[in-house]
Amino acid sequence: MAIMQSLFETIAQFVPDKAHDALLDQDGFLGKSLDRVDGRLKVTGKAPFTAEFDLGNVAHAVLVHATIAKGKVSKIDTERARAAGGVIEILTYKNMPSLNAPPLVDIMDLKKGMAASDLPILQDSSVHWDGQPIAVVIAETLEQAEHAAFLVEVEYKSETPAVSFEGMKPQAFEPSDVMGQPAVLKIGSIEKGMQEAEVRVDNVYRTPRYNHNALEPHATIALWKEDGSLVVLESSQSVYTVGASLALIFGIKPDKVQVIAPFVGGGFGGKGGLWSYTPLCAAAAKAVKRPVKLSLSREGVYRTVGGRTLAEQRIALGATRDGKLSGLIHSCITATTEHGRYAEQCTFPTRHLYALPNAYIEQKIVHLDTVANTWMRAPGESIGTFALESALDELAYTLRMDPIELRRRNEPKQDPTTGSDFSSRLLMEAYRQGAEKFGWSRRKPQPRSQREGKWMVGQGVATAYYPYFRLPVKATVCIYADGRAEVKTPAADMGMGTATVQLQHAADRLGLPLEMVSFHYGDSKLGDTPIMAGGSNQTASVFAAVQAAVEAVQQDLLKLAQKSSDSPLAKAKFDQLTARDGGLFVNGNGPGQTYAEILRSAKQDSVEIEQEGGPPMEMMKYSMGSYGAQFCEVRVHEETGEVRIARWLCSLDSGKVANPKTATSQLRGGIIMGIGMALTEETLFDERRGRIMNPSLSEYHVPVNLDIPDIEVHFLNIADEKAPWGGRGIGEIGITGTAAAIANAVYHATGKRVRDLPITLDKLL
Ligand code: MOS
Repeated sequence: MAIMQSLFETIAQFVPDKAHDALLDQDGFLGKSLDRVDGRLKVTGKAPFTAEFDLGNVAHAVLVHATIAKGKVSKIDTERARAAGGVIEILTYKNMPSLNAPPLVDIMDLKKGMAASDLPILQDSSVHWDGQPIAVVIAETLEQAEHAAFLVEVEYKSETPAVSFEGMKPQAFEPSDVMGQPAVLKIGSIEKGMQEAEVRVDNVYRTPRYNHNALEPHATIALWKEDGSLVVLESSQSVYTVGASLALIFGIKPDKVQVIAPFVGGGFGGKGGLWSYTPLCAAAAKAVKRPVKLSLSREGVYRTVGGRTLAEQRIALGATRDGKLSGLIHSCITATTEHGRYAEQCTFPTRHLYALPNAYIEQKIVHLDTVANTWMRAPGESIGTFALESALDELAYTLRMDPIELRRRNEPKQDPTTGSDFSSRLLMEAYRQGAEKFGWSRRKPQPRSQREGKWMVGQGVATAYYPYFRLPVKATVCIYADGRAEVKTPAADMGMGTATVQLQHAADRLGLPLEMVSFHYGDSKLGDTPIMAGGSNQTASVFAAVQAAVEAVQQDLLKLAQKSSDSPLAKAKFDQLTARDGGLFVNGNGPGQTYAEILRSAKQDSVEIEQEGGPPMEMMKYSMGSYGAQFCEVRVHEETGEVRIARWLCSLDSGKVANPKTATSQLRGGIIMGIGMALTEETLFDERRGRIMNPSLSEYHVPVNLDIPDIEVHFLNIADEKAPWGGRGIGEIGITGTAAAIANAVYHATGKRVRDLPITLDKLL
């Protein structure tokens, strides 16, 4: 965000200190635990995923994936495949139309589109990763396409791939930046800080590769219209950037591409940008002059779409006997690719969580020949907090100090990296309330001191943290003469409850009952604005746009009302009005008119305005993030090493909560992903050949119901007065701190410190 910072820092001086909107503290829908508006559709199976849409006359595409990690396709013979039943066409680099390279993700410039890799798609014979699509088979049915894909004969000229992280580590280097922030950060003198330390802990934490495994695998249906425009149904977190990417790749105007994401069955970052299968499907549709559906198998997702990269993080902490950090080193190496270049921001929590008189923070990367890695729920922050919060726990034991007390002693007054004030930071209050609810004081501090029969029992804590983001996006608000209102924006709902909270917010702003407002999303035709469900930004971003658009519409309606001298609003000033009962009324039970009355007497059908939410000055001026305390109790079986999560409590400061029910669900989802990350999940990767070895849910173990206890989520629910509506993001923070809380609880239960995730039985025996 460095560039944005320089853009806005001058203006930020003029931001009023209280950005928080008092209107939303009034009694309304926002803040209430409303059921999801699409809940019934979801549970009755009436909310179709992309691949379930029937466009008629659809052909089916299946990918052929490379089985070497680097080299060339020396021969590709499609003759037998073409002769198989139902086959319509097979695309390889030999007959693929010429396409532009995809636009590599740049969060400062989403308008150009967003792809995790800028490798040209099927334009030549080169192979850059094991799994890269090298042919697309299009047939009448899915089964015919799958069968024919097996008949494509491929020979390779292999080169030695760089696929060993260990082997490449000596060549690790600093990237030019990490998500717009410097890769290396020095505060004070780390030499001095470490010398002054009376106690030191210095360890390396390792996390493996992980894959997203959304319930709905990635899928596309592409259709070219006669006017040369392209319509794509896509399971996506960002219809805008997929559309912009496709326009660039096919060399057509952005308004000639429409991307629709109806109901998205999870994304977690894996559907944040464009991956190669989407343009391949669009190219296939063009080639066969029919709509084409390309629905990736679970294995296909692993081969085509990248996940979280592996990481090695060294954390050295130096502290005085009273528990104050005198020095901190956080140095991490992650893997990326030459065509993706995404360095996981593992060190970001470390930059903002504790007072740091002296610190040395650095990130390095190695380039491997793999599928491009990408964002996966709290990218960087999830694994970064595993390392940092494990290290804090290790320091607490070394000091014989309560781990919450250690954190309290290092609570910063200002952001340790930027020196900015915090907008609002109630981490210690989250710990206090969480500790009380969890019964932390009943815990015996000594490791391996609690048991129930053969189960060793332990409790651990860790801090959760995720930064605040808001993007300047647009929304359209339309009010009709019958009193109904529509909100339109190309947002995505991958399962978070977007439509529900947006309706709550819009209805409050408009002073309308919920059933009089509709929210339209998931279609790039709903607005030319670079929006995405990512970085936990979307709720705040769309709220700000809706606020601006509602205000503009109401101003227009007031002007319209004042054209008639007998209007009860004839002499009213805008800032004296309240939106209630479907219209505008003078404050304090004064006179007013409904929107319907105003429009009808003006003989106008509707008023519609699009507005932008404005630049996110609050995040330029303040250090902003959500904070939480993760409390966990584990049971570890003394003979088998089996780890069971017995209890979970997350105590969270995310400012005001828009909908406690959907928010709780978000947090639970994040914590469940964190439990998977800590205990069962791991993408197994052959370091000799560069191939993912467990691309299936039978061998990549996501947690199931029986792995998960009741997860209690407690929100402080105190408004952040510097945030436009009083709330901050909640989508990703659940996975942060989770793995550390588990590792810390496992240590407490067993006396064994596991620094390599996942914590499997073998590491405890
Ligand atoms: Mo999130 S990893 O920004 O979808």
